[in-house]
Amino acid sequence: MLSTKIKEATKSAHQGLEKKVVLKMKAIRSNADYADLLKHFYAYFNAVEKAIKPYITTDLLPDHAERRNSEYLKKDIEELGSQVDDLPAVTLPEINNTLQALGAMYVMEGSIMGGPIIVQMLGKYGVNTGVSFFSGYGEATGMMWGKFVGVMNAEAKSEEEKDIAVLAANETFERFSKVFGTA
Ligand code: HEM
Repeated sequence: MLSTKIKEATKSAHQGLEKKVVLKMKAIRSNADYADLLKHFYAYFNAVEKAIKPYITTDLLPDHAERRNSEYLKKDIEELGSQVDDLPAVTLPEINNTLQALGAMYVMEGSIMGGPIIVQMLGKYGVNTGVSFFSGYGEATGMMWGKFVGVMNAEAKSEEEKDIAVLAANETFERFSKVFGTA
C-alpha cells in the first residue's frame, strides 16, 4: 500500500523538517514570533494548495472543502495581531498530475498529526491563541486521516504510481524545509 511506503520513504525528510520547526518554536518569546512561524506555513501551504487544486477534485476527495486549509493560518496570524504580508519566498514541488498532488497533500494533511504536540509545546512558551491550524480536526483527526489515506491508496496501485506520489511527498517536505533556511 502507498501509505506504508510513503511513511517509510519520507521518514528522514519528516525528521529534518520537524527539527527546524522545533528550533523555531523554541525561539518563540511573543505573539509576533509565533505569527512569524505561522507565516512560513502560510506562504508554503497556500502556494501548494493552489498548485494541487486542479487535481484534487470532489470526485477524488468528496470532503476536500471541509478539510483544514491555509485560511486557518490566515485567521490565526490575524488573531495574533499580524498580517499575511512580508511572506518568505517559497519554491513549489513539481505538481503535474493527481499522484503528485496526492503526495503533496499527504504532507499537508499529515502535518495535523503533530499538531497536538505543537499546541502543547506552544502552551509551555505561553502561547495559547492562534492555534486553530495546529488543532486540526480535534477528535475527528483519526477519521479524517483514514479517509484521506484510503483515497490515496486507491489512486496509486502500481509500484510506478506509488513512486510518483512518494517522490512528490519528499519534494514537498524538502521544499518546505528550505522555507526555514538552509541551516
Ligand atoms: C514540531 C513539529 C512536528 C512534530 C513534533 C511532529 C510529530 C508527528 C507525529 C507524532 C506523527 C504521528 C506519527 C505516527 O502516529 O506514526 C506525525 C506524523 C506526520 N507528520 Fe509530523 N510532526 C511535526 C511537524 C510536521 C510538519 C511541519 C509536517 C509537514 C508539513 C509533518 C508531516 C507529517 C506527516 C505527513 C505525518 C504522517 C505520517 C504517516 O503516518 O504516514 N509533521 N508527526
